[in-house]
Amino acid sequence: MSSTSLPSSLPPAPRPVDADTARRLRDAAARAEFDGQIFRYLGVIGSPGWRASMREKWPKMVTFDCGTLVRLFIVRDPVPETIAAGAVGGGEVLTALVKSGILVGESGGMVRCPFQLTPAAGVLVLSDAIDDPASANPPDDYVIPVSGAARGVDDLTPREPCDLVIDLACGQGFHALRSMTHAKRCIATDINARALDFARANASLLGASDRIDIRQGSFFEPVADVVGKVDLLTCNPPFVMQPGAHITSAVSPTEGDGMVEGLVRGLPRMLREGAWGVMSGLWENAEPRDWSARVREWLAEAGCDALVLQFQTYLPEEYLTAWFPPEVRVGIEPGWRALCEKRRIGAVTYGAVIVRKRAGQNWLATLSTPIFARTGAAGEQIKAYFASQTAMQNMWGPVDLLDRKLRFAAGWRFDPAQGTPKSTPLGVSRGLALPVPNQARWEPVLTAFDGGATARETLAQIRASGRLNVQPDHPETAAMLQGMVQSGCLDILS
Ligand SMILES: C[S@@+](CC[C@H](N)C(=O)[O-])C[C@H]1O[C@@H](n2cnc3c(N)ncnc32)[C@H](O)[C@@H]1O
Repeated sequence: MSSTSLPSSLPPAPRPVDADTARRLRDAAARAEFDGQIFRYLGVIGSPGWRASMREKWPKMVTFDCGTLVRLFIVRDPVPETIAAGAVGGGEVLTALVKSGILVGESGGMVRCPFQLTPAAGVLVLSDAIDDPASANPPDDYVIPVSGAARGVDDLTPREPCDLVIDLACGQGFHALRSMTHAKRCIATDINARALDFARANASLLGASDRIDIRQGSFFEPVADVVGKVDLLTCNPPFVMQPGAHITSAVSPTEGDGMVEGLVRGLPRMLREGAWGVMSGLWENAEPRDWSARVREWLAEAGCDALVLQFQTYLPEEYLTAWFPPEVRVGIEPGWRALCEKRRIGAVTYGAVIVRKRAGQNWLATLSTPIFARTGAAGEQIKAYFASQTAMQNMWGPVDLLDRKLRFAAGWRFDPAQGTPKSTPLGVSRGLALPVPNQARWEPVLTAFDGGATARETLAQIRASGRLNVQPDHPETAAMLQGMVQSGCLDILS
């Protein structure tokens, strides 16, 4: 499979910068407060009218240099050299950025950036621009900016100090860069040589070139030497299902969910005992309520505990409307219908699969969560969830929970009867939004579990306070607690 079967109209990929330039650029960005928070004010890159809106907003950024960096790297307008130099850390940095192709000189003493440089989760990420003319019908070597799906995988990743991470299908290398806060090294792979050039340039911007090993090849092919040795594998693959053959940064190269299946089946063997795997994807369902059936089958003998997250399930026609602009939809509709008939696709689920390799009897849990409604990183919430499900697996029965200390789990809850939350309430803990039917009734009960007493003692306190008439020794009480642990509301403390 070639990664460059279509002629490219994209600018030549950037080259790495030297360590001193990278350090000075990072320092300048930090001083200017050019970080992920800017999008709270600027809005979303690529949303309708975004460029005009950001042109109005950049002069009002928190610092003048932040405005200049937005103008140069996000809006991508030409900027006078002298002003750009001030914002990127000085004239020498500017010259080095021009030499690496990250900036290009224009007539009239102006410079511009042919790419997008996005500050995201503490790292600076060069990619092709979201609105590069080529992005409407992307050639094979288009390098996608950090997307919502990429941020989702990042926020779902359990992070702990470790030796080896793999970022499979790394694109610009965002997840590889993010792993540098806790891993000694990372192998970042992609089939697209141009994407790997971006990943190399981005590694240099972070000062991590010597810790990110960049390898070209298809999925697991370039990492055959580290089977069973990996501590964390992250993968945000090109999972969009579309009829026909594709080799782009977003659309799956295999029919239906075949690529996602291959990745889910192949991921566990890469991991050492205790290691994590996180990937996003779209997968087929025979019908909407069976949304996790195929993933269960793929993971049946995986030797991993697994959490399968459902972000959204679509009927086939809803999927087309939600994932494709009208001009593309028209062209693919007949092929999509034929594909649905051929593969008996009754629904499509967008979600994520998180696994942890563990010897012994494994569990698989499913949770529904609107991913857009999360509050930042959910890695700690997920680690606690895995620990709690494993602790429950090792109990004789739910009744054992009464003698354990339980704690209201991180994350936040919403009542599905009130509709899906549109925005995140302020002042709540971080993590995934999890549905709790009848939240108003349950939340005061759940928050009583603070980890300080056994569940039996806490239930007695709740009863004494008159908040809920629960009898600790009634069999349904243990089953209720079990349900709360399984739905991510309560954590079991060890
Ligand atoms: C959706 S992009 C994700 C990029 C990056 N990981 C992120 O999250 O922003 C998918 C990436 O998969 C790569 N890809 C496509 N087919 C591949 C294959 N067979 N093996 C490895 N990578 C592949 C594409 O080149 C693209 O960079």
